[in-house]
This record gives sequence, structure tokens and C-alpha cells, in this order.
Amino acid sequence: MTSPQTSRVATTTTVDPKPFIEIRDLHHEYSGITALDRVSLDIQPGEFVTLLGPSGSGKSSLLHILAGLVEATSGTLTVAGRDITGVPPQKREIGLVFQNYALFPHLTARENIHFPHNVRKTPAKEAAARVAEVLELVELTALADRRPDQLSGGQQQRVAVGRAISAVPKVLLLDEPLGALDRRLRQQLGHEIRRVQRETGITTLYVTHDQEEAFTMSDRVVVMNHGEIRQVGTPEEVYTRPRDAFVANFVGEVNLWPVQSPERTGDNATVNILGGADFTARCGYGPDVEALTLAVRPERVWVWHPGSTSPRPEIQFVDSGVIVESTFLGNSRSVVIESERLGRTSALLYDGEEPRDRGARVAFGWEAKHALIIPS
Ligand SMILES: Nc1ncnc2c1ncn2[C@@H]1O[C@H](COP(=O)(O)OP(=O)(O)O)[C@@H](O)[C@H]1O
Ligand SMILES: [Mg+2]
Repeated sequence: MTSPQTSRVATTTTVDPKPFIEIRDLHHEYSGITALDRVSLDIQPGEFVTLLGPSGSGKSSLLHILAGLVEATSGTLTVAGRDITGVPPQKREIGLVFQNYALFPHLTARENIHFPHNVRKTPAKEAAARVAEVLELVELTALADRRPDQLSGGQQQRVAVGRAISAVPKVLLLDEPLGALDRRLRQQLGHEIRRVQRETGITTLYVTHDQEEAFTMSDRVVVMNHGEIRQVGTPEEVYTRPRDAFVANFVGEVNLWPVQSPERTGDNATVNILGGADFTARCGYGPDVEALTLAVRPERVWVWHPGSTSPRPEIQFVDSGVIVESTFLGNSRSVVIESERLGRTSALLYDGEEPRDRGARVAFGWEAKHALIIPS
């Protein structure tokens, strides 16, 4: 007889395999400048994880250390159960795609993708078969005999991805591989990279400073700042439950206001901003936090005619003000409301009857579950 409890434990063990990449207490300094500050991270087999952070946050340093191009000041790295801390780069079985990691200009796409097999001395027949397979995967079969200067920027990056996965690496590392491309091509190639990664199942660590790119591609996102990991989670988790004001602001548009000593009851608290109307918000902070911020995403702000009730009972009145900016965005309209207590509040309005033109007087507010109190 199996009790429900036993089977639950068994399930947990199978869905949580041993991490494929283990990064432990990684610390790195360049002549006194801290680039990575005791970073620890586990990545599961086949996972697509993105390091997301502003310029200088340590993303490239982490990738370079994993690739073996830079030796960390301290800390350990394990890939597939093997400590690779002292292993030279060419023995790490890692595929690299860097924005400035150029293709060989005198070699064709096919020859570039074949190159890792020369280094590894793969038997000729096996190598040719693998190169043909990779050319198919990155959709370059028809252009295989062109040199880089005969290919567009996007096609060149597809060659770079093909070369990186050609020798079937254990890990694929990509550092802002789409940075030099225009927006449309970035989206298209981003989808292709993700498709190739899914089809090959290669555990991948991707770097970008672009939140949209990170969200559309990743299983999990690692938000970094000043060499530290600020939050790790699925795109949905970091967007809806940011751990602090930095994360909230970095992963999307957000309204932020300082709040003083909210009256807390369990997971909720009563807040008012500068003596305005009391409203309820969700608490996303621990016991010892001093400075707190209220975070509300613009798409969660509702506006309505002053004097009438809010569109739904759960939408709380917060303040009244005047629309001072109103921008048509195609599928929505972005407005800024100026009010005495809150200052400027951004709202994103979809089709509706509410006032939305510049100069209109409005009441506005939000639901308790969409107002989050977090550490500043
Ligand atoms: N070769 C280097 N020498 C000295 N400082 C460096 C070097 N590379 C990076 N840094 C510094 O380390 C920090 C992290 O840089 P980096 O890892 O390149 O960040 P990111 O890729 O997120 O922009 C920054 O302060 C940067 O100036
Ligand atoms: Mg970088």
C-alpha cells in the first residue's frame, strides 16, 4: 500500500534532478574591482537560463569564467558532476557565441561549422554528416558555400550558432549574440536559437541586457546588478513578484513610491501615500527591511470618471488627477496621470470607455493583489 505522502516525495525526487551546472561562491576581481560577488547558481540539464542585467553587472565575466577564458579569484564550477575549475578552455566541451567572436572570414559557412571537428579530429565521414545536420538545423543548407562577407548579419550569427553546437558541446554560452542586429531580426533569430536549443537539448546560458529577449527565450532568468544575483525565477515570477525595487524596475515598466510603516496583517497591509486614501497592498518583504517601496505595473492601473464608482468592487480608489500625457501605441494607450499626492502615475489602457485624452480629470486606483510592497 502506498500512502499519498510517499508518492509525493518520490515525485519530487524525480522532477528535481541533480543540477547540470553548479556555480558555487564564485568571486572575481579585476585589479581591485569586484566583477562578481559570491555568485551561486544551479542550472538543470537542458535548461535555458538567461543572465539579465545592466551593463557592468558581471554577466560577461561569469560567462568568460565558465568558458575558461578568465580564471576566477575564488569559487568552484561543476559541469555534469565534474569540477572544471582548473580545466583549460578547449577541454571544457563548451560552445561559445559572442557578439565579437568572429567567424573565419576566408572559410565558407560549411567550413566554419566544420572547424571544431578539425580541432577534435572527428573522423571525416562522421564530421561531414554532423555538419550537414547542423546546416539543416540553422537553416543554412542553401547558403553553405558562401563566405561570411556574402552573408547578412543575421545569417552570420546563425553560422556562429551552428559552429558553437557542431561538436555537440555539453554547454552552450551566448553573450549578447543578437546585440548587433535590428529589432525584427533579433526577435526572429532569438526564436531560432531557442528552437535549436530545444531540438538539441543543450544546457544553455544566455546573456542579454534586454528584458523582452530574456522573457521570450528563457526557462529561468537570473537578474544581476553590481556583480550580485538579485533574483532567480521564471519570467513570470520575476515580473509579478520582483524581490526588490531594482528587479521590479529592470524587468519592465513600473510605478514606484516610497511607503512608510504600512499596517501589516499577514500577507496584506494597509497603505496610504502622503495621507491619501487608504488601500490594501500585498507584502513582498521580510521582517527586517527598513526602506519600503510600493510597486504597481502600468497595465494594472485603472482609470475612471471622477465621481463614479470604480469599474469593479475589487479596484480600490487611490487618488484623483489629470491626464498630462497620452500616447497611442497601437494595441493600447499609454497615459500619465498627474496628482497631488502621488505625483506622476503611468497607466496602460486597452480599449475601453474610460477618459483617456490629455487634460481629462480622472479617478484612478488598483486591485490589492497588483500593488506590491517590496524592499527599496
Ligand atoms: N578585463 C577587465 N579588466 C578590468 N575590469 C573589467 C574587465 N572586464 C570587466 N571589467 C569590469 O568588471 C565589471 C563587470 O563587467 P562585465 O562582466 O563585462 O559586465 P557585463 O557583461 O554585465 O556588462 C565591470 O565593472 C567592468 O568594468
Ligand atoms: Mg557583457
